[in-house]
Amino acid sequence: MSRSAHPAGPRHADVLPEGHYTAPPADLNALDPRVWARTVVRDDDGVVSVGGLTVRELAEEFGTPAYILDEDDFRSRCRAWREAFGADADVFYAGKAFLSLAVVRWLHEEGLNLDVCSGGELATALAAGMPAERIALHGNNKSNEEIQRAVEAGIGRIVLDSFQEIARVAHIAQRLGKRQPVLIRVTVGVEAHTHEFIATAHEDQKFGLPLAGGQAAEAVRRVLRHESLELTGIHSHIGSQIFDTSGFEVAAHRVVGLLREIRDEHGAELPEIDLGGGLGIAYTPEDDPREPHEIAKSLGEIVTRECESAGLSVPRLSVEPGRAIVGPTAFTLYEVGTVKPLEGLRTYLSVDGGMSDNIRTALYDAEYTVSLVSRASEAEPMLSRVVGKHCESGDIVVRDAFLPADTAPGDLLAVPATGAYCRSMASNYNHALRPPVVAVKDGVARVIVRRETEEDLLRLDVG
Ligand code: LLP
Repeated sequence: MSRSAHPAGPRHADVLPEGHYTAPPADLNALDPRVWARTVVRDDDGVVSVGGLTVRELAEEFGTPAYILDEDDFRSRCRAWREAFGADADVFYAGKAFLSLAVVRWLHEEGLNLDVCSGGELATALAAGMPAERIALHGNNKSNEEIQRAVEAGIGRIVLDSFQEIARVAHIAQRLGKRQPVLIRVTVGVEAHTHEFIATAHEDQKFGLPLAGGQAAEAVRRVLRHESLELTGIHSHIGSQIFDTSGFEVAAHRVVGLLREIRDEHGAELPEIDLGGGLGIAYTPEDDPREPHEIAKSLGEIVTRECESAGLSVPRLSVEPGRAIVGPTAFTLYEVGTVKPLEGLRTYLSVDGGMSDNIRTALYDAEYTVSLVSRASEAEPMLSRVVGKHCESGDIVVRDAFLPADTAPGDLLAVPATGAYCRSMASNYNHALRPPVVAVKDGVARVIVRRETEEDLLRLDVG
């Protein structure tokens, strides 16, 4: 597509409308390593490449929009988590962040376990050959079919979320002649510092059994009554996109308090604590996430300290990072279609995707950055809003961004840190075709989830 001239949009020197931005970055061509996958670089000719392939080549071969995932980065993050937590802990990758057959194989090869929260995720995990004993099943309303499939497969653990579920799992395991390892998910009453929709440890919500008021302790009593259930531990997940460990500290304190009560009441020390996932990543350079070894160190210390002061032996620790592993490893590649400068406001750049491939901006007010990646530009910064092609004014991909003022139709833009909860929450709104996920490594690109086709869409319509 040729680059068409368009009237100048608002510049940073103009009066700027309200927004989440500060000053424009000093160099619009720079790629901040905090938000980009590890092998992403801008080559000497100004074109960005990842895994040894340029975005122009990738767009040419696979089309846009597309999620481009850096396999080396994914694998090295898996290893970093595995090594940081060591032999006394288990890392369960949270499949809801992004799951595919290839991802499951990588996890298996890198020695991670897998947390699934639906029959579909379980089917994917098993189809890709993840050993059942390394899978955990979550969910606040698992169906009997899902429970049965998990128990039959010999799944490593089911995380129980309600009184009804205790009875259901016990019954199904008994019928199948199995003893199913289970954890009980509790809510510890922590207000995590994150978006309300992704905070999960305060009591007024659907997940888990509250510690306060004794429901969690009652769940323990009920589980222990069933021969077909083996209670291995307590689970707590306080929320997502969390940067400090103080919430985990309170959670661990309260979970260990329950372990102590269990010992006192039942004479049993449970062997495991699962502190869930939720560690934040950098969506913009202002975010400052902790490295896995720092997280492992502080969670390990917290649990050890709490157990020692409660006179308990230190249980095995599990964690369930999703976003922190896959989030930073991918970016979404878009082509600019239209450019609309609105005097005194900002310039709207429409790309060929939108809220169907990234709902997070609309849903959580999430912030992203964006860069022009098909070429370098020396043009001055232009206050921009990157929007999609859906019939909805809230269809915003990046609310506030500075892009070069000569950005034009046909240019390629990339939004980094879209590896988690973008493809997995993608929709067919307006009958959009969900984009492919392309894994790149050592100069080779491989489609690991193909682009949807109109045939795929029509296949579901009957009559
Ligand atoms: N474990 C449990 C029990 C969870 O519910 C979750 C996320 C995780 C682990 C992984 O959390 P992570 O480490 O990825 O933050 N769709 C939202 C986030 C909702 C996450 C739900 N549960 C988003 O786009 O931010």
